[in-house]
Amino acid sequence: ELGMIDTAPRRAPVSLDSLREEAMGCRRCPLWQPATRTVFGEGPPDAEIMIVGEQPGDQEDLAGRPFVGPAGQLFDRAIAEAGIDRARVYVTNSVKHFKFEPRGKRRIHARPNAGEIDACKWWVDQERRMIRPQLLIAMGATALRSLTGRPIPVGQARGTAVPLPDGGSAWVTVHPSYLLRLPPDADKDAEFARFVSDLRQARVSSF
Ligand code: URA
Ligand code: SF4
Repeated sequence: ELGMIDTAPRRAPVSLDSLREEAMGCRRCPLWQPATRTVFGEGPPDAEIMIVGEQPGDQEDLAGRPFVGPAGQLFDRAIAEAGIDRARVYVTNSVKHFKFEPRGKRRIHARPNAGEIDACKWWVDQERRMIRPQLLIAMGATALRSLTGRPIPVGQARGTAVPLPDGGSAWVTVHPSYLLRLPPDADKDAEFARFVSDLRQARVSSF
């Protein structure tokens, strides 16, 4: 049995670096314990675009950087095709520790639950506060839940900007892992093109 979820308010750190440093010791939910490390967001503090994913995977947990594994490679291709330079984007996750189930020597991705997403939302909110992006993109259901605080089906919100409780808005698209999990008979090229088109539309509509 792992620990309780800690929702106590914290004083907000004053810079992105101090925020990242503080997140390294986060114990707000039980996910820190089996994971290797906190995988914090990455990108320039003056980024105009912030993109939010789900949680680090196996490779991200080991590397300590977001979106470096298979989903990350697909993500890199897609944003490049959408005309977005990753080096100028702040890329982060809704949940900053890898949640998994051990299966022999492998670690199998497990979906974060609503309590974990809401506990880790504190960090996402601070990142938004520091970055103040002109364009915020939510990839997948977890990011959408984190940013809005509500469960909203991605299929319904995809390709639109959903209003956020604090007044901002987030463009919605699928998570790149969705494209990796498509059944063999799916039109993978068309799905990839639609993902790119979502990202491009978000960019074009925001600048
Ligand atoms: N999937 C995510 O949502 N984030 C990562 O960093 C890697 C895979
Ligand atoms: Fe903290 Fe988020 Fe890690 Fe939970 S997943 S311990 S809230 S950083």
